[in-house]
Amino acid sequence: MSKEQELFDESINLIKNYLFDKSHKKIRSENSFEELKIDLGNITPEFPNQNEIILEAIQKYIQTSVKTKDERYMQSLWGGNHITAILGEVLVASTNTSMYTFDTAPSATVIEKSIISKLLQLIGWQEGDGVFTSGGSNGNLLGLLCARNYSYPEYSKIGNRNRRFQIFISKESHYSVENAARIIGIGTENIIEINCNHDGEMDPEDLEKKIQESIQSSFTPFCVVATAGTTVRGCFDPIDKIANICKKFDIWLHLDAAWGGAVLFSEKHRMLLEGIERTNSICFDPHKLMGLPLICSTFLVNNPQQLREISSCVKDPSYLFHGEDTKFDLGKISLACGRRADAIKLWLTWLSIGTKGWGERVDYCIELAKYLENLVVKHPQLELMSSRKFTNVCFRWRPKHMSNKEEINNLNFKLRQKLVAKGNFMISSAQLGDTQILRPVIAHTTIQKSTLNELIIEIGKIAKKL
Ligand SMILES: Cc1ncc(COP(=O)(O)O)c(C=O)c1O
Repeated sequence: MSKEQELFDESINLIKNYLFDKSHKKIRSENSFEELKIDLGNITPEFPNQNEIILEAIQKYIQTSVKTKDERYMQSLWGGNHITAILGEVLVASTNTSMYTFDTAPSATVIEKSIISKLLQLIGWQEGDGVFTSGGSNGNLLGLLCARNYSYPEYSKIGNRNRRFQIFISKESHYSVENAARIIGIGTENIIEINCNHDGEMDPEDLEKKIQESIQSSFTPFCVVATAGTTVRGCFDPIDKIANICKKFDIWLHLDAAWGGAVLFSEKHRMLLEGIERTNSICFDPHKLMGLPLICSTFLVNNPQQLREISSCVKDPSYLFHGEDTKFDLGKISLACGRRADAIKLWLTWLSIGTKGWGERVDYCIELAKYLENLVVKHPQLELMSSRKFTNVCFRWRPKHMSNKEEINNLNFKLRQKLVAKGNFMISSAQLGDTQILRPVIAHTTIQKSTLNELIIEIGKIAKKL
C-alpha cells in the first residue's frame, strides 16, 4: 500500500471514529485563538511532513472543532449529519468537477436539474428554473437582481440613470437581504422596513401604505422580500396577502425561505407556506433544516428568462462554453464560474430517505420544538418570549424577585455564556427588541425529548448559581 493510501485509510478511520462516537464530548473547546494557534503547531511548514504529523493534525482539528453533530448542539439553523451527505462530500471532492458546463459535469448537471425540477413542482410552479448557489445570502442577492431586471430590463445595458429604486423588507428579515440591496447599489436609505405584528410577521397594511408613499414620492418600488422562517423567531410572513399587494402594484416578490423552505416537504405543516406559488423567486437552503453539510443552497425563479439575463456575460467566454447547445450549461444561469457539485449530497440523501423522509424530518423537528415550548411554558421561572410557529423556541429565565429589565437581560446573557462554557449544550442568544432571549433551535433529528429535558435542567442549575 502506498503512503498516500495508508494516510487515506487512517484518516478515514479517525473521521469514522468521530462520526460514530456516541459518547458526549464537550461541545466546544474553551481554547482561545492564541492557545489554538500554539496547539495546532506550524500551519504553513517549509518542509514536507510524515503521515503521523498529518494524522495528528486531523485528530487535533476534530478535537477542537465544535461538535455540531451532537444532539446537544442547538445553536444554529443547521446541525447533525446524514452519512449519505458526508459520502456525497467525499464523492464530490474525489471526482472534483465544476458545474459550469454539461461537458465537465454531465451526471451532476442531470442531478442538479432534476432536483431543481422537483422543487419547482413542490412549489407549484408550471414553469421556472433554478440553480444551486453559495448560500441563502447569495440567493437573496439573485432575487434582488432578478427583481431589478424585471422592473427595469435596460439596467444591465445603460445602468441606473435616474431611477430611484426602493425595496421593502420586514423588520425581522435576515441581514443578508439588506446587504444584497446595498451591494446592488440601492442605497441604505431606499431600504424601507415594514412593521411586524407582535408575532414577528410582516404587516401587509403597512407594506401597502409604504409602497403608495414610495410611488407618490416618485420612487420605483422594485421588490418586496417576504420571509418564510425568520432567523430569530422562525415566523412566516403572510405570503398570500403580500402577493396580492405585489400583484396590485406589479412588484417582484422574492421569498427568503432559506430556513423555512423545508416545510414544502411536510403535508402537515405546508400551510405555513400558503401562497408560495404566487412568489416570483425563492431562496431555499437544504443545508439548514434538511441536515446537509454546508453548503447546499438553491435559488428558484418562476421566470427562467430573468435568471438567464442577470447571469449573462458581457464577454462570451468561448474557452468555456463550447457546445452548440448551451441549454444544459449551468454556468449560464449562475453568478459563479467554477462551482462545486453541491446537489450530490442532497441527491444521495434523497435516495436514502425519499421525499417522505424529508417530510418526516420536518414534522419531527416541529414536534420536538412544540415539546420544548411546553417545557418552557410549564416552568415557573421560564418565560416564552414569542409565539412558536416553527422550530425556534425563544424564551428567557425570569426570576420572580427580579423586575429590572437590564438586570434580567444581563442574567440571560451570562446564562448562555456559562451554558456554552460548561460544554454540555450550545444554544444561541439573541435580542427581541430590547429583550435578551435564549434561542435554541431544533434543526436536526439527533435531538430527543430527553435532550430537551436535560437542557432545561442545565439552564435551571446555571441560572440558580448566577
Ligand atoms: C432567513 C435567512 N435567510 C438567509 C440566511 C443566509 O443564509 P446563508 O447562511 O446560507 O447565507 C439565513 C441564515 O441564517 C437566514 O436565517
